[in-house]
Amino acid sequence: MSHFSPENRARAEAIMACYPRPRSALIPLCHLAQSQDGWLTPGAMEEIGELLGCTPAEVRGTATFYDMLHTEPVGRHVINVCTNIACMLAGAYEVLDHAESALGISVGQTTEDGEFTLEEAECLAGCDKAPCVQVNHRFFGPLDPEGFDILADDLRSGRLADTVPSHGILNRVDRNVGLPAMAAKTAAAGAKQSSSANGSRQPAQAGPVSGPPA
Ligand code: FES
Repeated sequence: MSHFSPENRARAEAIMACYPRPRSALIPLCHLAQSQDGWLTPGAMEEIGELLGCTPAEVRGTATFYDMLHTEPVGRHVINVCTNIACMLAGAYEVLDHAESALGISVGQTTEDGEFTLEEAECLAGCDKAPCVQVNHRFFGPLDPEGFDILADDLRSGRLADTVPSHGILNRVDRNVGLPAMAAKTAAAGAKQSSSANGSRQPAQAGPVSGPPA
């Protein structure tokens, strides 16, 4: 049985068709699975491996290299508090200490209600917002402890639902610009090559296969 929903399974196949080699779609498929489940479940890694012709261990090996992919369950909101130099000098550790006591968890943990995961981060490239916090890859700051409480309250109540998608999902807008056209082009090139290999008199088409849309 497919782990992907029927809609996402079709989407996974469309994404794969954009690449000359299926394995090149590994990271986009991981993001797709994460957008469906909130994290990369063992079932998702197994199905991605089947689709791409590699083992679940290879999928996991790639996924664990990237902070943006979660191979363990996370809260609906993953909060990263930067404690690198600019943020540290501006009071990041006060924010982090306060976050731990306000949420009742330590760094690396998730609240019992599954609402928040708290992480300590290196420079998030938002030094102009020091102390800077990211929630599901969206920037907030400068934040003090009081600002953190307001942010947590807004997140919990859903007031920021339009701005901050659940579960650390990277893209709010599905990456579909150009996908159908690219898939059709790749399929047509494949059909041409196979008819040529089968003895057709049509010449095989040379030239590079286009990559995915930007
Ligand atoms: S030092 Fe915190 S975002 Fe750069």
